[in-house]
Formats: sequence, structure tokens, C-alpha cells
Amino acid sequence: MSVSVYLEDSGISGKLVESRRVSAQNALKELWSGELDFTGWVRLPEKITEDSLSKIERYAKQIRESSDFLIVLGVGGSYMGAKAVIDLLGERAAGTEVIFAGYNFSARYINEVFEKIRNKDISLCVISKSGTTTETLSAFGIFRKYMLDKYGRDETAERTYAITERRSNYLYDIAEEDGFTVLDIPLDVGGRYSVLTPVGLLPIAAAGLDIRALTGGAAEISDPKHFAGGALDYAVTRQLMYDFGKRIEVFEFFDPYASFFGEWLKQLFGESEGKEGRGLFPASLMFSRDLHSMGQFLQQGTPSFFETFITAEKTAQDVVIPEEGGEFAGRTIQQINTCAVDGVYAAHVKAGVPAVKITVDSFDPENVGELIYFFETQCAVSALLSGVNPFDQPGVEAYKTEMKANIKSL
Ligand code: PA5
Repeated sequence: MSVSVYLEDSGISGKLVESRRVSAQNALKELWSGELDFTGWVRLPEKITEDSLSKIERYAKQIRESSDFLIVLGVGGSYMGAKAVIDLLGERAAGTEVIFAGYNFSARYINEVFEKIRNKDISLCVISKSGTTTETLSAFGIFRKYMLDKYGRDETAERTYAITERRSNYLYDIAEEDGFTVLDIPLDVGGRYSVLTPVGLLPIAAAGLDIRALTGGAAEISDPKHFAGGALDYAVTRQLMYDFGKRIEVFEFFDPYASFFGEWLKQLFGESEGKEGRGLFPASLMFSRDLHSMGQFLQQGTPSFFETFITAEKTAQDVVIPEEGGEFAGRTIQQINTCAVDGVYAAHVKAGVPAVKITVDSFDPENVGELIYFFETQCAVSALLSGVNPFDQPGVEAYKTEMKANIKSL
């Protein structure tokens, strides 16, 4: 496994963690048993076929050749994974610029997208597992009309990709009727676990990134043997943190391009674990920026949290500070960043803040694929250990019902 986990400063005794390993292995077995609903993601990396990868690559090529922008409409699990990967690997992205929309109700945001795409060619990718989500479908109506006016019915169909479950729903029915290209979200994969399905792979491939390396990285560890022994100690430690009174896990990154990976993690853990009055509240911070706003709280604030540092050892780029940089001259930005990582870790551990370190060699497509699968597995095991269903989200229905009733009364 390329992902390495360091738990020595978690404040939880190794013996206690070891004593829970059997339960973690039992939870892993449950995930692999095929008996739980929505565990299709577990075998996804090994099941991805050459045929499905080359089909996605073909569509991505079509998008790159025909369009200046790909507009992706989707919310939650229907966009966060793709954006996290594109942001993180962006320096390698030599494809079409992907614009994400349909994840908010901001008229200004929509108008600004229209400003950006004026006189440009676009393709549209509308993603919704249920095919009924208000954010996505209201934006879809707006962009569909724009495309029909600009391209007419046939070309709109050629330029539109719908990613949804292959069964009747509002989006699927329109897609079929209008002749859009339809790609499937497998029925047994939930939104927040769907980044390695076409939901994530089509936008990522359109951005010009290597989806074979990404899915290959996940496939490297998608076998229970890679999570044997102490490989689930992170999941166990999180639950012990909760038992000992911690209520917040702060994911910390030292790279602005990793910020959205933090958003993806927040959704993954928050929706999987936050139920039945339980769960660690997932937060994320980007350093060094947030050291100048939240550093004080982390060092001396209410001790209700623990920190999870997520870093890469190497970066592809570096910048040397010239003579004009005074006392910093001759050092590189990356060297200073490493000093910040080690310095923050040491200062917080000395202050008694429990800390976990999760490291990869570099943020490249293989390692990012592995990280995705690593966190999906740890999250699902952690939720099962806590006694909740990692794959439902009954709590999100309440606001939707209220909101829809309000919309009806407009
Ligand atoms: O993880 C989930 O299931 C959710 O976050 C969904 O992805 C989100 O609500 C969007 O749903 P849909 O894809 O049905 O539009």
C-alpha cells in the first residue's frame, strides 16, 4: 500500500487499538460479503472493464475535440469526487476545462458561467443518481434551453451526457427521449462512493487526466488482504477517539489544490457516520493559510477534536527563493512547506492534541486512486464499528420535503 498511516501520537494506546482489530476485520468481511446494500463500490476497481474505460475515454476525447468547456451539473456525490481529483491533479490536466454547476442556488453563479462560456463551445454532463435532485435539475433546465437555442436538437443530443441509474426517472426519461448519451451509475453504488464510476471518471477524463492510473491505483488495494492486520487501525482509532469524548476530526492539508479533497472527505464521513445521534463531525483546513485563522484554536481551544494530517512527501514543482528573499533566500517553497508540516505537527502534539498522519509519496493519479479507496474503506468500516449504516442518508430528506413544499407554493 502506498498510503502510510502514523498513529503513534493519537493518544490511544496501541494495545486498545489491537483489541478492536477483530471487530474491524469482521466489519470488512461484511463489506465484502455482498450481503449489505450499496456495497458495489467495494469491488468496483477490480470490476472496471477495458470496454467501459475505453468508452469513457472515447466520450472524453469527443468532448475535448468539440468543446472549450465541459459543464458538469451535479451535487454532493454527483460532483465532489470529480472536482477533488481534478483540483488535486490539475497540473497534469491537459484537457477541456471543466466547470461545475448545479450544486447551488446562486443566480450570480449561473450568470457568471454564462459570461465565461459566451461565444465558446460547450458540452454538458448532467449527473444525478436519483434523477430528481432540485439543484441539478433546475440548472439542467437552464443549460438545456441554452444548448437547444445555440445548437438545435440534434447537436444538443450529441453534446449532452446524462449519468444516472439505468431505470426510469426524470433525467433518464428525458435523456432517452432526446437521445443523449447515457452512462450508468450502478444501482448498488451510492453517490458519495461513486467517484470511480462514470460519475467521476467522465469529467476527470474530459479534463485530460489518466483514469486508468486512477482506477489502477484503487485496484492495487481493493482486496481484503491489503486491509488485514493493522491496516484498519485508522478506522478503529477514530472510533476510540469518539468513545474517549472527541467529537470533531479535522482533516488538514498543506496544499491549496488538496482543499477540495477535504470537501469530498467531509461528505464521505459526514453522510456515512453522522446519524442516530452519533458521529465525528468532519472539518477540513488548508495550511498554511488557516494557521493564521484557526491555528490559535487548534493549539489552545476546546479539546473536542483530533487532527488528521494528509500530506504528500514530494511535489512535482518547486520554486527557489531568490536573494531578494532575505533570510529565506536559497530555500525552496517546498522545503519551507515541509518545515511547516513538521513544525505544526510537533507544536500541536506537544500541546496534547491527538494527531494522525496519513501520507503518500506524491499526489499522482495512482496514489490518488489508492487514497480514494483507502478512505472509502476506512469510512465504511468506521461507521459499521459505530453501529450505523454507512450507506444511507435518511436525514437529508427532511429539508428536501420542506424546501419542495416551499417551491410548490411559489
Ligand atoms: O451521497 C449521496 O448519496 C448524496 O450526496 C448524493 O450524491 C446527492 O444528494 C446527489 O444526489 P443525486 O445524485 O441523486 O442527484
